[in-house]
Amino acid sequence: MPIIFNEKTKEFHLYNKNISYIFTILKNNQLGHLYYGEKIKHRESFEHLLRTTPRALTVCQFEGDMDFSLDYIKQEYSTYGTSDYNEGTFQIKQENGSIVTIFEYTNHKIYAGKPKVMDGKMPATYVEKDEEAVTIEILLTDQLINTELILTYTIYEQRNVITRNAKFINNGNEKLTLVRALSACVEFDNKEFEMIQLSGAWARERHIEKRLLTSGIQSISSTRGASSASHNPFIALKKNDTTEHVGEVYGFNLVYSGNFLAQVEVNHYDITSVTMGINPLNFEWILQSGEEFQTPEVVMVYSHQGLNHMSQTFHDLYRERLIRGRWKEEICPVLINNWEATYFDFNEEKIVSLAKDAKEVGVELFVLDDGWFKGRNNDKTSLGDWFVDTEKLPNGIDGLAKKINEIGMKFGLWIEPEMINKISELYKKHPDWVINTPNRRDSHGRNQYVLDFSRKEVVDYIYNMLAQILEKAPIAYIKWDMNRSISEPYSRGLTPNKQGEIMHRYILGVYDLYERLTTNFPDVLFESCASGGGRFDPGMLYYAPQAWTSDDTDAVERLKIQYGTSLVYPIKTMGSHVSASPNHQIGRATSLSTRANTAYFGTFGYELDINKCTSVEKEQIKKQIKFFKKYSKLIQGGDFYRLESPFEKDGNLVSWMVISKDKKEAILGIYQVLVKPNPKFEKFKLKGLNPDFEYQIDNMTRTFFGDELMNVGLIFSDTMGENDTIILDVEQGKFPMGKFGAGDYSSQIFVLKAK
Ligand code: DGJ
Repeated sequence: MPIIFNEKTKEFHLYNKNISYIFTILKNNQLGHLYYGEKIKHRESFEHLLRTTPRALTVCQFEGDMDFSLDYIKQEYSTYGTSDYNEGTFQIKQENGSIVTIFEYTNHKIYAGKPKVMDGKMPATYVEKDEEAVTIEILLTDQLINTELILTYTIYEQRNVITRNAKFINNGNEKLTLVRALSACVEFDNKEFEMIQLSGAWARERHIEKRLLTSGIQSISSTRGASSASHNPFIALKKNDTTEHVGEVYGFNLVYSGNFLAQVEVNHYDITSVTMGINPLNFEWILQSGEEFQTPEVVMVYSHQGLNHMSQTFHDLYRERLIRGRWKEEICPVLINNWEATYFDFNEEKIVSLAKDAKEVGVELFVLDDGWFKGRNNDKTSLGDWFVDTEKLPNGIDGLAKKINEIGMKFGLWIEPEMINKISELYKKHPDWVINTPNRRDSHGRNQYVLDFSRKEVVDYIYNMLAQILEKAPIAYIKWDMNRSISEPYSRGLTPNKQGEIMHRYILGVYDLYERLTTNFPDVLFESCASGGGRFDPGMLYYAPQAWTSDDTDAVERLKIQYGTSLVYPIKTMGSHVSASPNHQIGRATSLSTRANTAYFGTFGYELDINKCTSVEKEQIKKQIKFFKKYSKLIQGGDFYRLESPFEKDGNLVSWMVISKDKKEAILGIYQVLVKPNPKFEKFKLKGLNPDFEYQIDNMTRTFFGDELMNVGLIFSDTMGENDTIILDVEQGKFPMGKFGAGDYSSQIFVLKAK
C-alpha cells in the first residue's frame, strides 16, 4: 500500500512510483508538512526535514520552549490564531466569540479505494477498482468544542495525483460557525516559483497568465456564483526554469463550480502556503450540534517533466476518472447549433431546412438553441417558462425532434434552468424564488434574474418541467446555459443567520438537478455552458462531459482560448465549432479550413447558416466532417502536446499535436496569425513520438524517424512547398502574392502515420 505510517516517528509517507508526500504529527499533535515532490526513498525517519530552529520574535506555543512556532513550521491544514499569522485554511467561530481552535491528531485509517465527497452530492474524481488508489483519513479533534476534523487524502497508484478534502463534525453542544473552510493547504519551503493562472473574461476565457511569487498574498477567486470566465479554479506553481517539457510544476484544481479562492501566501520566511477552496467572502456555514460540513475536492498534480506532462495527467484523470456515464467512452456526435445561424429568429421550417443541409454534409446531431419556448423572441422574456412556443414550433419540441430524427439526425435542445425573466408566468407565480435582497434594487444581467437553487422546492419544480420535456421528446443532447452572475445574494428560504450559506447551497442545488437529470436520462449527452466558458471546471465535467469553451468562435481567438484551456482540461471536453466568416463576435474573416483546423482539436461541430453556404463550401464541410470522424478517436483519446504558444514570443505561430497512446498515429496543427514579409526560417520540433518509428506525413515522398522529428524538427516553409517542406494552406484564388507567404490566419493539419 503506498501509504506508510511510521508508529515511532509518527510520520506518514504517501507515495507511488513518481511522487512522495510526507507529513508528521507535530509535538502539539497537529499535522506538520515535510515534503511534496518527486518520489524519494522511504527511510526510518524524516524528522530532520522539520525546521524548528528558533527565529527572533516569533510566538511559540509552549512555555520555556523557543523552538515551536507555527510561524515557520509547515502545516497540513493551517489556521490563524495559535502562532501562525497567515490567513490559513479554516476558521471556526464559537459561541463565546473565539476563533481559536486546536485540532489534535486522534487516529487515522488507511484503506484501498476512494470515497465519494458528501456521499456523492458533490462532484469528485473516482476509482473503478479499489486497487487504483489508497486513501488515508486522519481524524483530528478539538476537545474543547468536541469537534472533529477529518482530512482525507487519496493517492492514485498509477497517476501523479493526490486528492484532498476536509470534513468538520460538530459533536459538541454549542453552535459553531465556519467562516473559512478551504479544502487543502500545501506549504513549500520557499517562494522560488512562478504562479500560473487561467484568467480572462467573456470571449477571451482562460488565457495563460504568469507572475513571480512575491511576499504577501497573491490570489485568484470568483464571487460571481459560477467558477467564472474571470479566473478558472486552477493554479500551478512552477519553478522559474520549468518549460512545457522540462522541470517541476505543482498543479491545483478545485472540483467546484461556484465561488472559489485559490491563494498563495508568502510569509516573512518565504514559506509559501497554497490554499484552495470555497471562497470565504460571503461564506458562513452554521454547524449545529450533530451537523457536519465537507469541503469540495482539490486535485493536486505533480510533474517533473514540465507543464505538458502536468496537463496530460489532468487530461487522463478527467477523461478516465471524472467524466461518467455513456459519453465517457463514446465519441460525441458532430453537431450543428442554430444560434449563430438564426439567433431568436427561426421557425420549424427554417430549422428543418438547416437540418436537411446539415445531414447532407454529414452532421449527426442538430441542436436547437435559445428561443424555442413561449414568447422568447429576445433576451428580455420567458426564462422559467419551459413550454414550447407553438407559433415558432407548431408541432412542439417532440414534433420537431421527430422530424429531425426522420432526416436521420439526433436532436438536442438548449435550456437555461437556473434563470428567470420577470416577464414570465413563473415570476408571476413565484416572485420570491428569485435571488435578491429584500428592500434593495435587483440588479439584472442580460435582463434576467437567478432562481434560488438553494431551495429544494425550486430545484424540484425545474426538474419536473425538464423531465416532462425529456420524457416526451426524443432528445439526445442538452446544452445547459447560465448567462449571468449572482448579485444581491439572499435567500428567502434561509433564516437570517444562514444567509452566508446561500452561495454554496446554490451550487449544491445545481449539482442536485444535474445528478437527477443525468441519472434519470442516462443516454442524454450534456454540454455545460455559461455565456461560453464561464463555468468550465471539473465540477461541471462530472455531470456534463463537454463544455462550450467560449462564445468567441473566431479561429484565431480560439487558438489562445483552447491552448489555455488545455493546461488542465482534455480537448475531448472542449466544445468547438466552425462558425461563419466574418466572425460574429469580432468581425475577423478567416478561411473555412483554418476555422476547421482549430475546431478539430475539440468536440467539433458547426454553428452557421448552412443554407447560405455555397456548394463548394458544402463540399469542403463534407470533407472536414469525414476527416474529423476518421480521426475523432485519436483526437479525443490521444495525448495532447502544446508545441508553440500563442502567449509566448510574439504569439504569431501556434502549434499543437495529438498522438495516439501507441504512438502510431498523430495529427499536427500549425497556425500562422499574420503573414510576415521576407520571414525567417522556422521549424517545429514535435513531441511524444516513438524515436524509432518511421513516420509518413500525409503524402510527402520522404519519411522521417521520430527522433529526427523531435530533435531536428519539421522544416517549415512559407513557399509553395518544394522538397517535402511543410506549407500553410492557401485558399484557392485568395492568394495575392503568387508563390510567397500563405496569408494571414493560415493553417495546416498534418497526419503522421508510423509505417
Ligand atoms: C450564451 C451561449 O454561450 C450561446 O452559445 C447561446 O446559447 C446564447 N447564450 C443563447 O442565449
